[in-house]
Amino acid sequence: MSLPESALPIVRTATGFFQAQALFVGIELGLFARVSREPADAATLQQEFGLHPSLVHDYLDALVAMDLLARDGSQYRATPMTSTYLDPTKPEYIGGFLAFNQRRLYPAWGTLGTFLRSGENLAQKFSAEGDFTSELYADPRRARAFTEAMDGYAVLLARPLAEKFRWDEVKSFADLGGCRGLLTARIAAAHPHLRGVTFDLPPLEPLFDELIDSVGGDTDLRDRVSYQAGSFFTDALPDTQVYIFGHVLHDWVDERRRELVRRAFEQLPPGGTLLVYDSMIDDERRDAVFNLLMSLNMAMISGSSEYTVSQGIGWLEEAGFTVEEPVALNEITTLLVANKPL
Ligand SMILES: C[S@@+](CC[C@H](N)C(=O)[O-])C[C@H]1O[C@@H](n2cnc3c(N)ncnc32)[C@H](O)[C@@H]1O
Repeated sequence: MSLPESALPIVRTATGFFQAQALFVGIELGLFARVSREPADAATLQQEFGLHPSLVHDYLDALVAMDLLARDGSQYRATPMTSTYLDPTKPEYIGGFLAFNQRRLYPAWGTLGTFLRSGENLAQKFSAEGDFTSELYADPRRARAFTEAMDGYAVLLARPLAEKFRWDEVKSFADLGGCRGLLTARIAAAHPHLRGVTFDLPPLEPLFDELIDSVGGDTDLRDRVSYQAGSFFTDALPDTQVYIFGHVLHDWVDERRRELVRRAFEQLPPGGTLLVYDSMIDDERRDAVFNLLMSLNMAMISGSSEYTVSQGIGWLEEAGFTVEEPVALNEITTLLVANKPL
């Protein structure tokens, strides 16, 4: 019997957390922002960040080998990828999502074995209400960290979502569970004829105001976007032509997903559209490593899961929608466009 070629894929998987921690610490230090501003040598970075002189070279060179830094002679600098996504002064910054992975998900995944046996998720464990938002939003500091994490994940979808739907044919939209409004603002900025509403729970309204204030002098944009506080399970939904459920259905169990889709159908006007995006799983359930693991992640955090493309289409059709061909927003995210008949 011939032996399989190599055990290296196993070794790489087992030590994947080395790379994750090297990245997290770079974010924590502000290293990527620093070298985005100006290249620097190891001695300078060692002094500025208080690193141990015997460790700094291996650390920086490992980041070079991971394509997170580049090195010209003795100078370390940011790569186009790191200066775009890991510098907090840039609009595409994803550091909030990485910090959430480091602080909340990394420790949680250390308990995967126990979770797989008990099925007890974190929301059940830490909140009397048993849902993840009541636990998070009780503490304004954690609410802010959560919204920064959501921004860091959703920001990657803003451009494809602004490009891959026929926004020119509609005048208004509402992002249901739109967090603090990042996507509402980006879609409205990309399409100056649109008015957008972020619909989310009351505790996030001040963070929406803060985000919209940060767009500064763009009074046109500020006039076109607004916040509506409420619960998408119990309150009237905004009166618009398009609803978005983005990374929302993956927070809930099937019955509640059906309820959300049904409510959206009932409250959209005839000819209205519901857009649903999530890290949906391929129908064969064999290729999408990230999406399948994200499904377990959702189970661990909130007792929910990701779902297959066919399941998503099924809930939408059951509510009465006609669903278009699925659209890939990026490698890990599928968009379903569901139309309410005229
Ligand atoms: C996983 S986040 C997704 C945020 C954003 N749509 C995105 O794509 O990043 C889920 C959002 O749903 C909101 N949410 C949870 N329960 C809600 C409810 N009952 N009514 C309205 N929004 C709710 C949360 O506050 C949070 O902003």
